[in-house]
This record gives sequence, structure tokens and C-alpha cells, in this order.
Amino acid sequence: MTGTRPAPLQVPGGAIGRRMNRVDGPDKVTGHATYAAEYELPNVAHAVLVTSSIPCGRVRRIDTAAACAVAGVLAVLTHESEGVKLKPVEQPFPKSTSGTALLPLQTDRIEQRGQVVAVVVAETLEQAQHAALLVEVEYDEEPFIGTLQGSLESGREDLQKPVEDEAYQRGNAEQAYQAAEVQLDLTYTTPQENHNPMELHATLAFWESDTHLTVYEPSQWILAPQHTLAHHFGLEPQQVRVVSPYIGGGFGSKAATWSHLPIAALAAKLVKRPVKLSRTRAQEFAGVGYRPATVQHYKLGATRDGKITSISLHADTQAGMNGDFVESVSHVTEMLYAVPNMQVSQTLWRTHAGDGIMMRAPGEASGSFGLESLVDELAYVVGLDPLELRLRNYAETDPKSGHPYSSKHLRECYRQAAAKFGWEKRNPEPGRMRDGETLLGWGMATVTYPVYASPATARARILEDGRAEIEAGSQDIGTGTYTILTQIAADGFGVAPNCVKVLLGDTNYPKNAYSGGSRTAASVGDVVMAASLGARQELALLATGDEHSPLHGLNPHDLDARGGRLFLKADPSRGETFQDILARAGRNHIEVYREVLPIGGKREQLDAMMQAQNASVEADAAGYARHSFGAVFVEVRVDPDFMTPRVSRVVGVFDVGRVLNRKTAESQLSGGIIWGASMALFEQTEVDPTTGLVLNDDLAEYLVPINADIGTVEVTMLDVPDTHASALGARGVGELGIVGMAAAVANAVYHATGKRIRDLPITLDKLL
Ligand code: MOS
Repeated sequence: MTGTRPAPLQVPGGAIGRRMNRVDGPDKVTGHATYAAEYELPNVAHAVLVTSSIPCGRVRRIDTAAACAVAGVLAVLTHESEGVKLKPVEQPFPKSTSGTALLPLQTDRIEQRGQVVAVVVAETLEQAQHAALLVEVEYDEEPFIGTLQGSLESGREDLQKPVEDEAYQRGNAEQAYQAAEVQLDLTYTTPQENHNPMELHATLAFWESDTHLTVYEPSQWILAPQHTLAHHFGLEPQQVRVVSPYIGGGFGSKAATWSHLPIAALAAKLVKRPVKLSRTRAQEFAGVGYRPATVQHYKLGATRDGKITSISLHADTQAGMNGDFVESVSHVTEMLYAVPNMQVSQTLWRTHAGDGIMMRAPGEASGSFGLESLVDELAYVVGLDPLELRLRNYAETDPKSGHPYSSKHLRECYRQAAAKFGWEKRNPEPGRMRDGETLLGWGMATVTYPVYASPATARARILEDGRAEIEAGSQDIGTGTYTILTQIAADGFGVAPNCVKVLLGDTNYPKNAYSGGSRTAASVGDVVMAASLGARQELALLATGDEHSPLHGLNPHDLDARGGRLFLKADPSRGETFQDILARAGRNHIEVYREVLPIGGKREQLDAMMQAQNASVEADAAGYARHSFGAVFVEVRVDPDFMTPRVSRVVGVFDVGRVLNRKTAESQLSGGIIWGASMALFEQTEVDPTTGLVLNDDLAEYLVPINADIGTVEVTMLDVPDTHASALGARGVGELGIVGMAAAVANAVYHATGKRIRDLPITLDKLL
């Protein structure tokens, strides 16, 4: 299955792998963790956004007199105001650190719903909110394109852009399809979905001088606001400090910057005070990215015994008017099964929705709905069990590169998940399983997500009191990064986890890549191990070189450390504490800095990462195909009168490499599973056809599951280290859990009802 592998980097401290509680948990639940919008600065002013009520056209007249007259109002900024010019970015993320090239207050043109047309700054939030209602705007309206469907129906050439980077082929898909015994020609669609992290996007901006700006901003990539603001205001990046210790979820939407960031900095500059600006929940639905809607057209050829010979996929996906963010739906189809003939193409279709951005498992979540539904449909056509069909098409080597897998245990995932779920008791015929009156449906899907990694840097310190610290300008987006890095550092230093303090989310710390693509655990984890081991090594050199040390004259390689004490491996009684070593040397701390390139990475990628450029080492960079895998089995219950589907039971088994913390990893996977169920049954951003604006821009109407919507979710991880993925053997887990879920639910709904729903979400009107 795999080539020879080095052993994972094992440092026997015992913290890595444990079900450790989140180190930041107590601060979060007691309100001691300060989020960006909660910082208090003396003399802070409050800003409120006024957004366009049309998605396309121009501002004919904007009258701020009434707003300006409100007590406490300090400024009302529009595109007509003095001093609002920002240096434009040429292209948005991932070509730059800005999520959009459409900057606020630079023009009278309106090119997207939710575009900012004015900003009110006042002494209090309430004054700013009140004044914002008094800003009068008259528009010249122009026809808009509200949705992907609208863009497709327009057929307009100027709205289409073929995505050359996504075009792919192997063999001859059309010929193999024409020759195939079984042919399926099917289309699956997914709607626009919006990120809804609990914490809204917010910025608190403060100019310490004309050339030094500090911002508090929840960010998945603190270098993004730093570099974006430096660009807009003509500063050097080091003149901008970004502080982001806590992030209440981002899911991709906080990986780049959006209009509120430069607005807060502009406003702070103009009123010469710190300015705090938080989006409202409604303002999260336009202007901070979204998962683009997709139409996925598949042609699949197969033999009568279920061997897939050919897949063609053309995807039409939604984009904004300015940016080219691609929801890469085809990636999962290209790599998942041993399909000899494949052809893929994709077209972007522009809409006035603003720019899209990645949302949890971008491309894989949406693309696996199509592929894993299609494969299920094939199973019924050829009369095979859906699991058996997948086994017949199992890829032993990567079908794209021909490379061996770094570590693939998907068969074991299928086997364990099927056994735990009780799959063998399934009656294959749709509509035959019931619990009383309730229709039961059982469906499954394959899960996969690639390994991305980035260069990483960190500083490690051992202090005179025996405690230890890590500084890394990475981010914990709510996933447990503080906790796993604490565990890794504890083992690396040789101290107990409660003696380690991990400091993240500040551009004063060593630079790191964005927390996205599930790269942080492996990338930053490796450098934290390198730095903490490095600090321990420095300490060992001090001790072995000191004639008053019981370790004097020994080879540092013969030493181990545990509980803040350095000792001889062969005779643990011979040793001394970190404090004693530092005290005798007259040192108050030891500090080391480390840079680590991921496996398959290049020096230029480290340089690029330092400059806030996208520096992703791809899944097949190291001569191995590196992917996480899993299998998910789902039971749905459908009321036969109302046709309301409910997810009652999920079993997932995942091959994620080495498990760094069983508790936080399980949380990531079960969270992904629940989001996948949400994608299947609830989520869609609905657009008013008359106004082009979002209709359900709050959490009452943008449906997400509550506890009563989800039955039991059982997550198991295999815990086989993948040392081609990272030195520690870890791969990411953040994105994996959502992949395949929407299809597994749709497949279960078909099994329950005999109705195949190819258009998400699966709402009862589609089942009646
Ligand atoms: Mo993840 S969608 O790359 O934050």
C-alpha cells in the first residue's frame, strides 16, 4: 500500500495524542478570552456601515446632512469624502491578501449586494447606528445578476470565464463513455452558502503615529490584514501590527480581508481616535465571501459489473464581478477512484453577489456531493451494494500522478464504519426499511481531503522558573491549535503541559501561513516541535559544558527531559532541573528560533510565506499522493406524511495520520459531519429575485441544525502516522469531516423514499 516510511518523530513525553481539554477553554467560557470587538481602548469611537440597497448601478446622490447633525457623530464618510482614497489591489485572494478588489468608498459604482456606500463614526455605537439610518442615498439602478442560475440563464459571454487551471484530462473520456455498457448523464447542483461563524467580522484600529497602525481583527491569517493595510496606506508591513489571539470561527471567511478592515483604519486616521467596527449578522451575508453555487454535469461510463471506465465533469460555478475565486469541485472526482478516462472543465459565471472565498473543504464539500451521489446512483443501476461498488473502484495508487499513497487506509475505514453502523442489515431496496411508520434510509459515502502544508516558523523559550513558551504568528481559529501546540511543545521541551504557554495571533511573533486547508496542525506542529527540542538542546549544552552539573561531560544526545528536569537516559537518577541549569549559568532564559520547510517544500516557499504570499505545498509534492480518507454512514428518518428528513445516526471512521489530540480532533470531525448534514438538509442563501439582495440574512432564516436536528454522531480515527505528510506524522482534520456527508444523506434519503434529490438542500418540497 505504501513505500518505506521513516518512523514518526516520537518524543516520549506523553502529552501528544492525549484527550487533553482545550487550554483556552476556561478563558473562553468565563469571558476572559478577549475577541477583537471586545478590546477597550481609551477614547474609542464606533463605526457603522451603510450598505447599498441595490446590487448593481451607481450612487446618484448621497446626503449625509441629517446623519452629521446627530449628537456625537464625528464623521460620515462616503466616496465623496476627502481623504478616503486607498491604493487599490489588482486582484483579490489568493493573488493578494485582500478578499476583494472592490474597495469601499472609492467609487460611485455599485457592483455587488451589500457594498458599503457610507460609514458613520460616532462617540457611541448607538449614535452611529441611529445616524446610519439617516444617510439618504439615491441610486441609478441597473439590471443585476443575483444568482448563478441567473447568470447561466443570461447566457452572456461577458459573464463567463473558463477556468484554465481546472481543466484536466487523462485517457479519452468521451470515447470510453460512448463505448460503455452503462451510461449515466446527470447533473447535481449546490446553492450559495454563507459562512456564519459565531464571532462576526470586526476591526478595532488604532494609529499610534502617522506611520504605526495597530489593528485587532479576527483573522485566519494575520499577515493578510498586515499586508493589505500596508498596501492601502503606503506603509511597510512591519509598520502595521495585527493582534488576533482569539477567533470565534472563520471557516475560510477570515482568511483574507474585507471592506470593514480598511474602513476602520481610514476612519481612525480621519477622526484621529481608535475606531471599532463590527459587521452586523446581516452584513456577514454580503461582503465577506461565500461558498459559490455550483452546477455539476457528470457523464459516467461503467461496465455492467460496476467498474467505472470514464467520467466527464463540467462544472459551472458562481463568482463575483471582480474576483476569480474558484470552488474547485472537480478535485475529488479526479483522484478518488481508479477511473482510467477522465475529462474535467469548469466555467466561472459572474454575479453581483461579491467575491466568493473558500468555505470549509472548498470544492471537496460541494464536489463530493455530486460524485458520491453519482456513484450511489450507479450502484442501483448495476445492482450492487454502494460499498461494494466503491471497493470495485478502489484506487491502489493515485490515479492522477501514478504515485503511491503516503499512507492510505480507506479500506479499513470502510470496514470499521460498516461494522459499527450495522450496514449488513440493510435491505437494499428503497422504501423497505421502517421504524413503525417512519421511513428509514441508510446511505454512505467516501470522505477525502488532501494534505496541504506550508513553511512555518516559531520561537521557543525556557524560562528561569522552569516554565516554557512558544511564540508563533499562527492562529487558533477555534479548532484547538493552542491545545495541540501546547502538547507538542510539552513533549519537545520535556515539561508538563501546564508549564507551557503558547502565544499565537500577533504579527510581532514569527511569521506563519494562513490557517486554512487543514495545514496548521502539521505545519506549525512540526516547527513547534523543532523549536522546543532546540531549546532543550541548548539547555543540554549548558549543562554538559558546566563542571558543576551532574551531567557534565556527557553527550547531549544521551540525555532526556521530563517534567522540567534533564537527565541521563541510561540513569534517570543522574540529572537536574531546568531552573538549576539556568540559575548556575546566570541566565534568565534560553531562546531559539526555528524555520521548518514541510516535506516536499522549497526554500522559495519559505520566502514567499514571509511575504504573505500563498505558499502551499501541494498534496503530491513529495513523490507520494498525500490525502486523508474516511467513510461515513448515515441513517435518516423520514416522516411518510410530511416527508421531513432527519439525520438520526452517523458513523464516521477516518484515516487522519497521527492523532495529536483525540478530543479536539473528534470535535473537528463531528463538527464537520454536522455541517455536512446541514449542507444536505438546511443551508442555502436565498436571493430576492426583485431586489437581488439576500432574503435570509440572519440565523433565524438561514437554517443551520440545532441539537434536535442531529441524532448520534460516532467518530473513530485510525491513528496511523503519515510521516510523508509531516515529521510528527500528523495530517489535518479540520476540513475532512464535512466531505461526503451531503451525499451520504442524499443517498440515505433515496434509500428511505426512492426519491433522488440532486439539488441541495433536500427540503420537503422536493420530496413531496
Ligand atoms: Mo478552510 S475553508 O481553508 O478555512
